[in-house]
Order: sequence, then structure tokens, then C-alpha cells
Amino acid sequence: MRVGILTGGGDCPGLNAVIRAVVRKGTMFYGDSILGFLEGWRGVLENRHMQLDLDAIPGIIHRGGTILRTSRTNVTKHENGLEKARQTLEANKLDALIAIGGDDTLGVALKLSQAGVKVVGVPKTIDNDLAGTDFCFGFDTAVNIATDAIDRLHTTAEAHNRVMIVEVMGRDAGWIATYSGIAGGADVILVPEKPFDLEQVCDLLKRRHARGKYFSIVVVAEGARYAQQDDQTTVGGKLDEFGHVRLGGIGISLAEAIEKRTGYETRAVILGHIQRGGSPTAFDRVLATRYGVQAIDMVHQGEFGRMASLQGQKLTSVPLTDALGRNRKVDPELYDMASVFFG
Ligand code: F6P
Repeated sequence: MRVGILTGGGDCPGLNAVIRAVVRKGTMFYGDSILGFLEGWRGVLENRHMQLDLDAIPGIIHRGGTILRTSRTNVTKHENGLEKARQTLEANKLDALIAIGGDDTLGVALKLSQAGVKVVGVPKTIDNDLAGTDFCFGFDTAVNIATDAIDRLHTTAEAHNRVMIVEVMGRDAGWIATYSGIAGGADVILVPEKPFDLEQVCDLLKRRHARGKYFSIVVVAEGARYAQQDDQTTVGGKLDEFGHVRLGGIGISLAEAIEKRTGYETRAVILGHIQRGGSPTAFDRVLATRYGVQAIDMVHQGEFGRMASLQGQKLTSVPLTDALGRNRKVDPELYDMASVFFG
């Protein structure tokens, strides 16, 4: 078969491991020819691609980013976008397309699938909030990077009797904040799922001080917000083609507010894209490899309009419609467990 592949949306450690697995199994086991579209859906709209044979994949399993590069291009926002995309796939005589991405990228994949294109999805977001699967690759790497940062911030916070606010990624769900907060021993974790009360946060920090702990670590997801405020904190700038604002800065406003209310010296650190960069963890390399093998197997089993999915320990597939538009929130029981360690 001739199979196309693309990586769309924000990059994520493990993308190359998925590509490697698709190419390896597709080429060596099924005798496929794999065509990689460049820069996500932009490459499909502009018919830009590269041939992915066995020579293209050595030495990439441990590399972050994506050898195909990526973009937040939304096919449906371009004139005749879906038709253009269909024409590109036809012109390249592709039998199927594997789209690796999150809600946005796979949303386009679903539209193409509904228009008759044979598409298989692979779930990707370091935020880990895509429905239809238990874990996305890249999340574990982000959690490890954030945990390492929290460990480092602990020692300097303690040395200076400071409150350290660590802002991590997580637009609509606080998976990275919750996991790295638990692993790093955070004293407060703030997530988008639970708008927070500033007074309560300050009370928790004061409780620690009363116990003779003069430093604290607060982990806050970029999408968290004050209970009294409707909007998330943004850095401004243009919306992307999927209509998303750029989030960021809640950590800074929180640091100012905490220092003002408690008198404790407070600093904020925004981890930002560091969480998405560099080498994937062993867990993510294995998970991404499994997703890649599953995706090319799905192509050959004719499981189109579906997404590879991890359910417990097993790789399986779900309809794309089950995964999209339904943000997967942090399990409230997990968050409650984390809160045992607050304050
Ligand atoms: O969706 C994943 C994510 O990493 C979010 O956590 C974050 O808000 C966003 O991407 C950042 O996107 P960009 O790379 O376009 O700044």
C-alpha cells in the first residue's frame, strides 16, 4: 500500500518514534511505501512531502521534535481546504493516511474521513487530555522534565525561605501539574478543572509556615484560573487557526498576589516549551512505538476513521468520534489524593 503520514499541532517527544515504527513495520512487514507530509496539514495543502524509507529512520527514536516538522494549519480554514487535501492524497495515489495529532489535527482527520478518505489517527498531546485513550506519548517526558524542575526549585526555595510558583503546561486539564506536583512533593497544585480561591491557597502556605516550613512549592497549570475570574490568563497575540489563544502568565500573577497577601517572598518560573523539548523518556519511546505499530496494523486491517488507543495495558482502537471534542479531565480521586499533601 501507499500510506501517507503527518504530524500536526504542538510537537511532542515521541513523534519520531511513532514515525519510525510506522515506516519500519510498514516497509519491512507489509511492503508499503510511506510518504511523509511536511509541517502537518500545511504539507497536505501545499503537496509538500518526503519519501520515508528505511534510510530515513535510523537514529530518530531518541530525538524530540519531528523529522516531518509540524504546524497548527487548519485545513478547514483554507479555501476549498478539504477538497485540496483530498486532491493531494489522490495525486500521490495514497491508499491511506496516518495523522498523528491532538483534538485539532484529528478533527481535520475526522472531516476527511467523513468525506471518504481512509484515515487512521494516533493520539498526541503532552497535556494528556485527549479522550478515547488512557495516555498520550510525550506526557511522561513532560512530567519528568517538570518534576526535575520542581526538585531543583525545592533546594533554592528552601535556601531563601521563598515560595516558588512553577507554571506548567495544561490548557484545559491539569495532568502535568497533578503528576509532577505529586512526584515533586508540591505543597499546592492548581489545575484548570478546579478554579482556586486565593485566600485558601495563602492559608495553606501559612499553615506550612506555622509548622516551621518557611518555603513552599506551588505547581500551577497554565490553564488554571481564580474562582472569581472567568477567563484564563493569556499572553495575548493572535489566535491560531483553530481559534486558540496563547495561555501563560498565571504563575506570575499568582506570585505577586501571594507575596502581597502573605508577605512571603515569592518567585515564579514558567517552564513553557522546555516541557516539550528534548529526548523522550523510555516510557514514551515504548508507548509511541506501540502506537506506530498499531496505526500501520490498523491501516492493513481496514480500521479507518478510528484512532489508536491505549486502554489499560493494551493497544486497541476507538472511533475518532469517541476521542474528539471531549476533553479528558484529571481524575478527581487522583487530585483529592494529591491534596493530602497540600499545606
Ligand atoms: O496543546 C499542547 C500545548 O503544549 C499546550 O499545553 C500549550 O498551551 C500549547 O500547546 C502551546 O502551543 P504553542 O507551541 O503553539 O505555543
